[in-house]
Amino acid sequence: MGRCAMSLASSCQANILGFLDDNLLTPKEIDGLPYMGPIEEFRQLSVKHAGLRPLIAVGDTRSRLLVFGRLLAATPDLQLASAIDTSVTRVGPSHVDSGCIIFPGVVIGAGVRLGRSVVINANVTIGAGSVIKDFSTVGPGANIGSEAAIGRCTFVGMGAAIAQGIAVGEDCTIGALSFVRQNIPDGYLAAGIPAVLKGPRIR
Ligand SMILES: CC(C)(COP(=O)(O)OP(=O)(O)OC[C@H]1O[C@@H](n2cnc3c(N)ncnc32)[C@H](O)[C@@H]1OP(=O)(O)O)[C@@H](O)C(=O)NCCC(=O)NCCS
Repeated sequence: MGRCAMSLASSCQANILGFLDDNLLTPKEIDGLPYMGPIEEFRQLSVKHAGLRPLIAVGDTRSRLLVFGRLLAATPDLQLASAIDTSVTRVGPSHVDSGCIIFPGVVIGAGVRLGRSVVINANVTIGAGSVIKDFSTVGPGANIGSEAAIGRCTFVGMGAAIAQGIAVGEDCTIGALSFVRQNIPDGYLAAGIPAVLKGPRIR
């Protein structure tokens, strides 16, 4: 995820300084960009580089929320960077909050609202009037029907389809290639065609 997001950000003409990571085994350089330290290093960097914004390129939805919390604690006036591919089609007015990463081939219907730090992978279609809340991820090729609602920190697997008007709760996982035609309560894994509840989401 990190590498794909960095290459997307580069193709969006972003001026990228380097990357932060807590993992001490992280390579000192990825694709020519230098490793600059752990997450909290952002504070020092933002003092040195006015206007610097972090792009939270973390795949797991809860981990993305945690990283956001740490960045915010260290930098109260935090403003997130976004990376949105130029091929993304917006059919009428829609709202995309800060920190979103949107890969090529995505179609966003009129009236859609994407929350903070939402990741939309390649070739996803989001129907008119749908809402995808903060820190959620939609896998490649998924289809979100119109007027659907996806809760915070939820993961929708690749190729899944969410029927129109359906509400998926917060902190859920929807299995790859599933078809969701009933509302899914908070914290559940649902999968299959049609999708059924498989139990609490396991991390
Ligand atoms: C949903 C998923 C995360 C489940 O992983 P898990 O927590 O390890 O769960 P398990 O493999 O133990 O499966 C739990 C149950 O769900 C079923 N299941 C899991 N994924 C399924 C799917 N995609 N379709 C249908 N059933 C599925 C399993 O058969 C099992 O059913 P059972 O309890 O009746 O036997 C995983 O299967 C998946 O679909 N990942 C998405 C991958 C993806 O989209 N990646 C893109 C990254 S951008």
